Amino acid sequence: MGAGFLCFGNHSTDLICAESWQTRLGFATTIEPLLMWKSGMRCDIARWVRTGTKIDVGRLLTESVITRSAMPQQKNLRELFHDTLKDIYFAEKKILTALPKMAKAAQSEELKEAFQKHESETEEHVERLDKVFAELDARPSGKTCDAIVGIIEEGQEVMKEYKGSPALDAGLLAAAQAVEHYEISRYGTLKTWAQELGLEEAVQLLDTTLAEEKKTDELLTEIAESSVNQHAEAA
Ligand SMILES: [Fe+2]
Ligand SMILES: [Fe+2]
Repeated sequence: MGAGFLCFGNHSTDLICAESWQTRLGFATTIEPLLMWKSGMRCDIARWVRTGTKIDVGRLLTESVITRSAMPQQKNLRELFHDTLKDIYFAEKKILTALPKMAKAAQSEELKEAFQKHESETEEHVERLDKVFAELDARPSGKTCDAIVGIIEEGQEVMKEYKGSPALDAGLLAAAQAVEHYEISRYGTLKTWAQELGLEEAVQLLDTTLAEEKKTDELLTEIAESSVNQHAEAA
């Protein structure tokens, strides 16, 4: 069964014409009037659904005012999933540039090692995202994520303002946990949407990364509670 849209301009009376399309084009259709907005003007749209004989597409395109491809697109969950995938792809790449700087700045050996370990995990996160894009038949690409840019900038401010001070590691650790929490939020959402969309491989890939982000967050909490916070306080 085929389906599409015909636009009859912004005159509601033109919808009457829609009813004659069945006879004019000589195929069986059901015509369902819809109201949509286009360039701020009300447009009367008729949705046609092929229910019977073959449609003469050439004639349809010549006679119709506008075809579906020219219509304002209705975005669905798959598109939202794809857009959010681009967001986290951008974020992971940004994190990859920040982690080596954070590792270099960290005073505690334990914290330094945690950042280095997570840097190699983050490389795998990007590779997993490449595979999720592949399942969508899409090219891996990023979309600027202002949230992660802001979180990372805050971390950079801490590095500058607390350079050489005992509270530096506590600040770096807090910045890193903000990053992890952002990632946990994104991966949790993407995994749920992948389940809804029936993207089985994506569910597994996103879940693996989600587990690593949570583990990193827990490790950072342990480091904070066992040494870093006391060190910052004692000074
Ligand atoms: Fe990550
Ligand atoms: Fe992470």
